[in-house]
Amino acid sequence: MTLQMILDRVNRIGKNSMKQVTEPNHLQLNEQGQLKHFLTLDGLDKALLTEILDTADSFIEVGARSIKKVPLLRGKTVVNLFFEASTRTRSTFELAAKRLSADVLNLNISTSATSKGESLSDTLQNLEAMASDMFVVRHSQSGAPHFIAESVTPNVSIINAGDGRHAHPTQAMLDMLTIRQHKGRFEGLTVAIVGDILHSRVARSQIRALKTLGVSEVRVIAPNTLLPVDIESLGATVFSTMKEGLENVDVIIMLRLQRERMEGALLPSEHEFYELYGLTTEKLKYAKSDAIVMHPGPINRGVEIESAVADGSQSVILNQVTNGIAVRMAVMSMAMSGHVAGRDKLGEL
Ligand code: NCD
Repeated sequence: MTLQMILDRVNRIGKNSMKQVTEPNHLQLNEQGQLKHFLTLDGLDKALLTEILDTADSFIEVGARSIKKVPLLRGKTVVNLFFEASTRTRSTFELAAKRLSADVLNLNISTSATSKGESLSDTLQNLEAMASDMFVVRHSQSGAPHFIAESVTPNVSIINAGDGRHAHPTQAMLDMLTIRQHKGRFEGLTVAIVGDILHSRVARSQIRALKTLGVSEVRVIAPNTLLPVDIESLGATVFSTMKEGLENVDVIIMLRLQRERMEGALLPSEHEFYELYGLTTEKLKYAKSDAIVMHPGPINRGVEIESAVADGSQSVILNQVTNGIAVRMAVMSMAMSGHVAGRDKLGEL
């Protein structure tokens, strides 16, 4: 099956295809339990998540060197296959691959560009002919990277860079690295995720990661219209006001209103949302005085967060971006090494 045929089938699966994303671990782990694809955090245990964080820690030092390169993926070809817009995620994946010495190809393909159907099909056939080793996939359909991992040639490792509302596992892991750096632990922490949980693949992956790593409590703070029905089954406690929800929290994670995924009127107005759920200097006082403020970006100042908070001393939003490179280096090198285990060997660090 060509990559184009696979993607045509992904598009036919439909928009809310989370049902298709089941039992990922037979796919994403090899027989030794090492990563070979990175599709979701569902089913990954604390030891593996901790290994990702520890590996990322060792790559932070590489980012601080004057020559920011290690030869772990030398001779490997990584293709960034982005079917949805992205700035931070795409560029940090690119930098991560380059710092691992891979050859990197960036393709930004809009799914709506049907008029370019023919050239897209040509592009994908060319990719297959280039013997790529890893595809980093972002797609608006939940389950697309999973489906590609199932169907693509066994030599290619797939990394999920965000699929629909389903998962954004590297974003969640860079958030975990940022929390561990600032708080030194997960045990005993209370973390609040605020805003558009319903449409957020980031929130789903964060809740999974936080629960697996053992925080005391994960709270979600949102209006009912922006909460998924199954939210409590993920292990999060629901709050509808900032005053109650932020009380005594160590970490506040703000989310963007995902307008592009909203169908119908879920909000009275952005102004009212900001009044009730926007993180202002005033509302920040409800949390612990040393609470950190996070946001996956892109931030909308004055919609979900006040500028003074985004730029303030408790904000770690730019640390998250820096950590994105180290976490993506960790995941890419681990997946590549799990993929080639038993076939050929990676170069030494
Ligand atoms: C997030 C995404 O695309 O899922 N952003 C990101 O990856 N940095 C969140 C968002 O778009 O709001």
